[in-house]
Amino acid sequence: MAVRQQHSQGLTAASAAGGDAVDLEKIELDCLLEAVFKRYGFDFREYAPASLRRRVSRRLQLEGLSTISALQERLLRDPDVMERLLLDLSINVTAMFRDPSFYSALREKVVPLLKTYPFTRIWVAGCSTGEEVYSLAILLDEEKVYDRTRLYATDINEGVLERARLGVFPLAKMQDYTRNYIAAGGKRAFADYYTSAYDGAAFDRSLLRNVVFAQHNLASDQSFNEFHMIVCRNVMIYFERSLQERVFDLFDTSLMRLGILALGQKESLRMSESAAKYEELDAAERIYRKVKS
Ligand SMILES: C[S@@+](CC[C@H](N)C(=O)[O-])C[C@H]1O[C@@H](n2cnc3c(N)ncnc32)[C@H](O)[C@@H]1O
Repeated sequence: MAVRQQHSQGLTAASAAGGDAVDLEKIELDCLLEAVFKRYGFDFREYAPASLRRRVSRRLQLEGLSTISALQERLLRDPDVMERLLLDLSINVTAMFRDPSFYSALREKVVPLLKTYPFTRIWVAGCSTGEEVYSLAILLDEEKVYDRTRLYATDINEGVLERARLGVFPLAKMQDYTRNYIAAGGKRAFADYYTSAYDGAAFDRSLLRNVVFAQHNLASDQSFNEFHMIVCRNVMIYFERSLQERVFDLFDTSLMRLGILALGQKESLRMSESAAKYEELDAAERIYRKVKS
């Protein structure tokens, strides 16, 4: 019975027929991730397996394939397949002023600290299609610190960065985003920040005046600057513990003393080896300050 249950949760029809289906799938998935890394340099080997399996399963269906090995064969030779899998694996869901209480906490507790510096560098890691970056730019502009800030916005996926640079988001989402903006303590009319064109909302280009978008892989790339603040939300939830720990190390190396690490509600520094070096600025929003080097 237990064996049958395991099979029914398996990824493919073909694997469900075999006696060692679950092990086979694990081997195939490991091989696929190894192939992706060797061929394209994207390292998903330490991502949480449950989420990976769901994503790969979906891609198999969409490509009309029945085994992970067949997907591996195809993507080794066809970069377009890799691009589609990358979109599946990198999970780009995002929103403007997502979790508005996070932005209120930034306004109340972090902005006063940023104001003590003549210039600040902020890294937004895993910025997806940019909604978070535009939200931060708006907030910092309203708080009158944007003109002495540089935002470095990075993601593993060049495709989402291209969309972020464009800054055109679905008009249909503007009602929700306006609600978020108000809940986050927005000080103007949200519609002042964009122009409607057909079904898109094109955001004010001047919001990008202090933004640098760049591809960066948290799993394999090094630190590239020393920052006053790092924002990384809804990214590490997809990583296994070992990779989370490496990323915390990377952030720790990249943060100056008294720098801010803002993780949002879904992630926490609590279990990490770096935790002792940080004090909590906002417990609910998981915003920390590095107090020891
Ligand atoms: C769910 S989105 C979060 C977007 C935004 N931070 C937010 O909270 O709305 C996760 C983003 O992390 C990016 N990502 C996943 N693995 C990454 C890695 N190893 N290095 C950099 N970015 C990564 C994905 O491409 C995706 O855009």
